[in-house]
Amino acid sequence: MSIESHLVENRIFQPSREFSKAARIGDLAEYRKLYKASIADPEKFWAKQAAKLRWQKDWTKVLQWKCPFAKWFVGGKLNVTENCLDRHLEGARRNKAAIIWEGEPGEKRTLTYHQLHREVCKFANVLKRNNIKKGDRVLIYMPLVPEASIAMLACARIGAVHSVVFGGFSAESIKDRLADCGAQVVITADGGYRRGQMVTLKQNVDRAIEGNAAIRRVIVFKRANLDIHIAEGRDVWWHREMDYVTADCPALGFDSEHPLFILYTSGSTGKPKGILHTTGGYLLGAQFTTKTIFDLREDDVYWCTADVGWITGHTYLVYGPLANGATCLMYEGAPNWPEPDRFWKLIADYGVTILYTAPTAIRAFIKWGDEWPAKHDLSSLRLLGTVGEPINPEAWMWFREKIGGSRCPIVDTWWQTETGAIMITPLPGATPTTPGTATLPFFGIDAAIVDDAGKELPANEGGKLVIRKPWPSMLRSIYGDKQRYKDQYWTEVKDCYFTGDGARRDEHGYFWITGRMDDVLNVAGHRLGTAEVESALVSHEAVAEAAVVGRPDEIKGQGVVAFVTLKTHAVVHADLKEILRKHVGEMIGPIAKPDDIRFADALPKTRSGKIMRRLLKEIAGGGGVTGDTTTLEDLSILAKLSKSDD
Ligand code: WT7
Repeated sequence: MSIESHLVENRIFQPSREFSKAARIGDLAEYRKLYKASIADPEKFWAKQAAKLRWQKDWTKVLQWKCPFAKWFVGGKLNVTENCLDRHLEGARRNKAAIIWEGEPGEKRTLTYHQLHREVCKFANVLKRNNIKKGDRVLIYMPLVPEASIAMLACARIGAVHSVVFGGFSAESIKDRLADCGAQVVITADGGYRRGQMVTLKQNVDRAIEGNAAIRRVIVFKRANLDIHIAEGRDVWWHREMDYVTADCPALGFDSEHPLFILYTSGSTGKPKGILHTTGGYLLGAQFTTKTIFDLREDDVYWCTADVGWITGHTYLVYGPLANGATCLMYEGAPNWPEPDRFWKLIADYGVTILYTAPTAIRAFIKWGDEWPAKHDLSSLRLLGTVGEPINPEAWMWFREKIGGSRCPIVDTWWQTETGAIMITPLPGATPTTPGTATLPFFGIDAAIVDDAGKELPANEGGKLVIRKPWPSMLRSIYGDKQRYKDQYWTEVKDCYFTGDGARRDEHGYFWITGRMDDVLNVAGHRLGTAEVESALVSHEAVAEAAVVGRPDEIKGQGVVAFVTLKTHAVVHADLKEILRKHVGEMIGPIAKPDDIRFADALPKTRSGKIMRRLLKEIAGGGGVTGDTTTLEDLSILAKLSKSDD
């Protein structure tokens, strides 16, 4: 059965002539021509791009493909940090800002490429001094400070494999991930700042490794002047270690398929999966997509708001921008600290030109009110991007008008931890955009919508989103579990990578992502994407955010339950629930009308901002929450939601 799609969105926004004229890809015909060539011969296409990276030894074969196992640039050797750092020291970028950082309490630091290179080399020598070798796994659990990037890059410099665990995760999550990846070394900080509070990172690490003799070293960066426990013989201070080393650390070349990192997906279901990425292909994906999709210029101030704990932080805060010699803003804390205008203040203070953020953040901004961005001069912005979820047309329009001044193109970028880099996206100077669609596949990406049998579906029929050809930045496996990798991604549709997402293509070939397939509702035989019902709710003026789940229903198979948060200034009618039900009925059809609407102050989310529908499903079904809640951002939300059944 296909997924039905009812929401119609007709607004089209052309890239401005001014933007197109300066852009690398300046019109749609050019994109289509290049795309066609890239799909006709992907190996030729990728080889040409890869040649622009710095290799210490050339590859002998572009791709070795034994489905589902890929090797890219076989025989080639390179060092990721030579590409991200050393290369830029040779010319005008030497003294250019690489990272401009602001802490939540307001401290400011700038690291030039020269300085960043020095810090990375020194810390790489610290790792060596602590007997960390090529192939060893290193767990990084840090606040969003430059040292988080430095730790990652230092691992990459010596061929150690980093696994970053988001600083908002609990001791329990660290424990699971340590057990899975077998790291013997942890890099952390005493603490970090979040919404005016202290996050006790080192204490969490202590709890996670209590009694774990396998952990032989913990390196602690002093961020917050917290009084912490230092275990003699195991724990060392970052700054003390740095006193013992020089900045001389040659960038050895590693095999193109040498593992670069493992990143555990927050996955809203089941046990976390260690997504394994390797060196050459990943770097190429990161470098090339950042340059092309954000149309990076030498004088841009580029800000990706993601934490390094997510793939977005890996690819678009660290490896992608640095490989392009960009200036990146990095901000440690919460968007609403001390007030809800912190982001807009940062943009004005640093003259940010490119802003890449998440729909969930945009919906929060909408909820907090238009007066906050209105206070600041946002005219430096020239390009906006979103990632992480389908963006509701309502939020897209708000982002365009209130943040982009109706002037900046928006790139709604679809991709996954597994894909390593952006896969479906507009090109800002070429692709006419419409709110709610990630538009067209990126070069070399053979994306398609297929049915259960793997047959490509005609326009406007919903089905499974798959990728039919391997691409350089694809995951290579689930760490330590090839069988799970096969089962999870390569068995659903023959010879295709199955993304787990549902989508349709419209008559222009644009992709509309309807959400995770396992979030699909089945109401009286109709399959509805949760994203669509949520968009309909959010298009009502009182609603800030909505999450829709199914609950068992004797008659319809599934009933629709909506959890809704309202805007701060919303006018709440007594019969608002009925009004919203009618509104959804009008927008989509009576079949989608929620059977039950529950108002909430906040929705349960993972720390990356994904609504945890699995938990809402349990609540909607009337039972208690029994599943894993270790990735939940704020546990108190659950208790409140369970009670809101009025
Ligand atoms: C899932 C991947 C990749 C960076 C952050 C999330 C959803 C992501 C979009 C988008 C619609 C999107 C998909 C995807 N998603 N971007 N632009 N439009 N949906 O990484 O945690 O691996 O999640 O996020 O469902 O499968 P992730």
